[in-house]
Amino acid sequence: MKLYTKLLVASLFLSVSAFAAQPVGLRCEYLVNPLGIDAPHPRLTWMLADARQGAKQSAYQVIVGLDSAEVSRGIGNAWSTAKVNSPAILATYQGKGLQPYTKYYWRVQAWDKDGVKTTPSAISSFETGLMGMGNWKGTWISDHNGVNVKPAPYFRTTFSTKKKVKSARAYIAVAGLYELYLNGEKIGNHRLDPMYTRFDRRTLYVTYDVTAQVATGKNAIGVLLGNGWYNHQSTAVWDFHLAAWRARPTFCLDFRITYDDGTFETISSNEQWKTSLSPITLNSIYTAEHYDAQLDQPGWNTVDFDDKKWKPAFARPTPSQNIVSQQVVPVRAVETIPAKSITKLDDESVVFDLGRNISGVSKITVSGKAGTVIRLKHGERLYKNGHVDLSNIDLHYRPTDDKDPFQVDIFTLSGKGQESFMPKFNYKGFQYVEVTSSEPVELNKESLTGYFMHSDVPPVGTVATSNPTINKIWYATNNSYLSNLFGYPTDCPQREKNGWTGDAIIASETGLYSFDGITVYEKWMADHRDEQQPNGVLPSIIPTAGWGYEWGNGPDWTSTIAMIPWNVYLFYGDQKILADNYDNIRRYVNHINDLYPSGLCSWGLGDWVPVKSVSPVELTSTCYYYADVTILAKAAKLLGKTDDYAKYTTLQAKIKKAFNDKYLNEQTANYNKGLQTELAVPLFMGIVPDNFKAKIAAKLADRVAADNFHLDVGILGGKAIMNALSDNGYADVAYKIASQETFPSWGWWIKNGATTLYENWDIDAKSDISLNHIMFGGIGAWLYRGIGGIQPDEQQSGFKHVVLKPNFVAGLNEFDGSHTGPYGKITSIWKRNGNAVEYTVTIPANTTAGVVLPQGKKASLNGKAISTAKAIEISAGTYRFTIN
Ligand code: BGC
Repeated sequence: MKLYTKLLVASLFLSVSAFAAQPVGLRCEYLVNPLGIDAPHPRLTWMLADARQGAKQSAYQVIVGLDSAEVSRGIGNAWSTAKVNSPAILATYQGKGLQPYTKYYWRVQAWDKDGVKTTPSAISSFETGLMGMGNWKGTWISDHNGVNVKPAPYFRTTFSTKKKVKSARAYIAVAGLYELYLNGEKIGNHRLDPMYTRFDRRTLYVTYDVTAQVATGKNAIGVLLGNGWYNHQSTAVWDFHLAAWRARPTFCLDFRITYDDGTFETISSNEQWKTSLSPITLNSIYTAEHYDAQLDQPGWNTVDFDDKKWKPAFARPTPSQNIVSQQVVPVRAVETIPAKSITKLDDESVVFDLGRNISGVSKITVSGKAGTVIRLKHGERLYKNGHVDLSNIDLHYRPTDDKDPFQVDIFTLSGKGQESFMPKFNYKGFQYVEVTSSEPVELNKESLTGYFMHSDVPPVGTVATSNPTINKIWYATNNSYLSNLFGYPTDCPQREKNGWTGDAIIASETGLYSFDGITVYEKWMADHRDEQQPNGVLPSIIPTAGWGYEWGNGPDWTSTIAMIPWNVYLFYGDQKILADNYDNIRRYVNHINDLYPSGLCSWGLGDWVPVKSVSPVELTSTCYYYADVTILAKAAKLLGKTDDYAKYTTLQAKIKKAFNDKYLNEQTANYNKGLQTELAVPLFMGIVPDNFKAKIAAKLADRVAADNFHLDVGILGGKAIMNALSDNGYADVAYKIASQETFPSWGWWIKNGATTLYENWDIDAKSDISLNHIMFGGIGAWLYRGIGGIQPDEQQSGFKHVVLKPNFVAGLNEFDGSHTGPYGKITSIWKRNGNAVEYTVTIPANTTAGVVLPQGKKASLNGKAISTAKAIEISAGTYRFTIN
């Protein structure tokens, strides 16, 4: 650590421990100082930094205004709340109507546990965007080409600033993908913007602060458009090439300059812009990108470029009537991964190995003769002869010719010295890159670099244990979670890139423990609302070009509509996502009720990719349906919808009765045949009658023992089994499963070199063999929950009250985990010390926790004997327990 960093860390620490309490971590709509806020009532959140034992916020005041100096003096001309006696750390803006294009400053004043004023927060800001379709000045433009034309188009214009510039903003709405340039420089570090939506129902725009890039005098704006999911030219089984919205990519841009004298000017996209084809000769989000450097037009996005040969742009219709701001953490190239090795295969080809499986792109740097064609084939596996093997990931691709090979970038050299290529409008899933050149070129290990791309969600969780395999499972789970997060959750980054609902249900809790992903989930739920049919039906992949309303969309997959809002509510304590989707959940539940009036639902794919045993679809789907109705009833209660609460509580009871009447054998205390999934899913979904829970859990533990403490589940059982065991007194059994290193187990993948999770327990299976799937990723959440015991409490969600219920499982010596929730960081650390366990917990200011320790054991807190008969209630601070 550099000295400066050390000092910074030390001073941050001091500011929390020794100095006065203060609200920190201010965010608007869960983003730091965001631009482009369209919400008329944005949510403002903060945390209280106060390291004192028992610290809490007794009151707060939020001040919002146009003048930062006034706000810092406590004057808010837009909104100033009274002193609100409340521990709340979320306030929804209720001040004067927000104006478009306007920066608002805000700060929070808190009062501590003793009613003493804290140091006020630092000043934070948010800036509104267009706040409505009517404010756009620009014309949607494209070039004259049709959907099948392969090269990506360039667009440019120039303008002159007339006076001294105070600030400048670019607002760009795109159907397709874009890169925006000002005076030759790329604006921002986002990749694959804007995010994928159902383009004909909702189109996103992105806002940039370009004040620093605007030159005095002449300026040039350049826009490069890519196809993305909008103009899907590659053909695969999901029919994206048949999308009703499909057209040549198009954009609308407003470039708004505010001058020092208070006047402003907007430079907009229109038919005077010029366009030309770029050197990107093919771009497909699904397959790859081709670039012919011989077609380079140096300086195309700068002022002095001669664009006489370019054509005028062409006005296009608006892709949707709903152009809204993209208020989501962007996709970025988050990690740079140098190649670990290079292997020469023959005179034409070499293979680079990144040493780990990722989603993203590679960048090659090379020099060679003009016209040399370099092909970069990206894959997850190698054939025995060392060449890259695509057979596990290209099987759903239906190419019409050989010009668009799967996961193969094609780079044609200009011959002008050293040149580099990295795709702009594509990403892939890969560990290996086979590089083939039409002419001899020099390549070494440094010639190729990998970039791990994904939604750049901030990490909020840590897990480290004394078992290295468990640590690697956690790492691989996070890698697969991130590899499958691109503004919507996907199943895999290579074969499909589909927003498979079922995979996302399983991944959501895992993701929420490790990453601050609320913005992505809120966006994806808007995608759900766009896709839902009036009768409540959802497609199995979201977004979709139409595929998926007819296959795979039973409640075991599309329960995302209820389960994701519920999980986000549990983790963030913010009801908005439940309120926004309430009507959609209700329509969904009503539709299933119409189709399955008995309460038993047989719609679904069932326990997908099982090890060996197959459970009835009706058994698992009914449990999912039951869980949805349970969530709906709870949401009705929270939102004060008393009639609905009564109605759906009755429906819940009906489903529970129908299910248990059919599947529960009361004599033997068993469900159906007593398979792992058949016992685990009902337990996990809470449909087991109370008086049978212990017996069913015991049966499940016996079943697992009979299966030699190995899994016999598919994805539904895989999510349920760990919690079903550890929540019902069998954490040791769950840990035995988790720590296996032989087939079938997570550890078996790790022992075979996995750095991501796989699609199939059987590494040598013939189908379903992607090496980067998140659908068996439930174990990630279980490590925090089942071993670390960090759990949200639905009575006080958002970790306002934390449940700390660690399991000191046999066979593990140490666990060290943390999760930073809306109030701050929660840590749960335990360590064996001879026959005793030392357990240390920290919970943040303004929260309380119930610590549940193993009953019947002797325990002490800071040296003083305590009873473990019931939960030990603690307030903010650090506590050391010893359990003998
Ligand atoms: C996907 C899965 C998905 C499944 C649905 C597969 O092709 O990769 O992850 O959930 O289809 O059946």
